[in-house]
Amino acid sequence: ASMEALSLSPPMSPPVTLTQDELKKIAAYKAVEFVESGMVLGLGTGSTAKHAVDRIGDLLRQGKLTNIVGIPTSKKTQEQALSLGIPLSDLDSHSAIDLAIDGADEVDPHLNLVKGRGGSLLREKMVEGACKKFVCIVDESKLVKHLGGSGLALPVEVVPFCWKFTANKLQNLFERSGCHAKLRNDCEGKPFVTDNGNYIIDLYLKTELGDLQIASDAILRIAGVVEHGMFLDMATTVIVAGELGITIKNK
Ligand code: 5RP
Repeated sequence: ASMEALSLSPPMSPPVTLTQDELKKIAAYKAVEFVESGMVLGLGTGSTAKHAVDRIGDLLRQGKLTNIVGIPTSKKTQEQALSLGIPLSDLDSHSAIDLAIDGADEVDPHLNLVKGRGGSLLREKMVEGACKKFVCIVDESKLVKHLGGSGLALPVEVVPFCWKFTANKLQNLFERSGCHAKLRNDCEGKPFVTDNGNYIIDLYLKTELGDLQIASDAILRIAGVVEHGMFLDMATTVIVAGELGITIKNK
């Protein structure tokens, strides 16, 4: 991955401490600079992607962008985009997307990602897999040396039918990594239901995932699994906003 660093503040200016949300916004606004009038855009989900969608809405309203079509990756993003007046469509009508902008939970040095802690991984993977360019936007806290190494979960979307059976299969698959498979609950303690009517099993691993492609294939071979949150070799660019500036990593 090649890298380009841009300074956020002029030399000699006093150091400013930015909040995580401000860093997310900086990364999001930078990504929207890649958007051109006439593009079909994949619209991501989560608190970072939300800033990008807001920005696209602003530029449309100001007439600085025209003729945009958005393909949302979740019902939440669909609602946000509709409220901003962004014209929307879907993958059935637009199978080739010019550019998608979305956040991530983990980014490794090869630009492989973990996504889906917001629960939208299936639609995100479908939309971002159909994109010519996928720009991932993160604050620097998301950078890891190896996926699965952050102590946070690897989300797997499963059908609700006999989900415990599927969760056990997943846990056994990563037994050597000390895996604990846990059904994700919503804020009321009920199973979290995805936009597709499925459940999420979060895999907590004590060690990093080894060979990512092997892990991906093994998860997808389990009947009952719909999709997992590893996005391997999909991001074409990752924009990282940190205290010292913006870093742009390209495939
Ligand atoms: C949702 C996602 C999000 O992009 C990911 O969870 C990052 O979220 P945030 O921008 O809120 O940190 O994959 O399914």
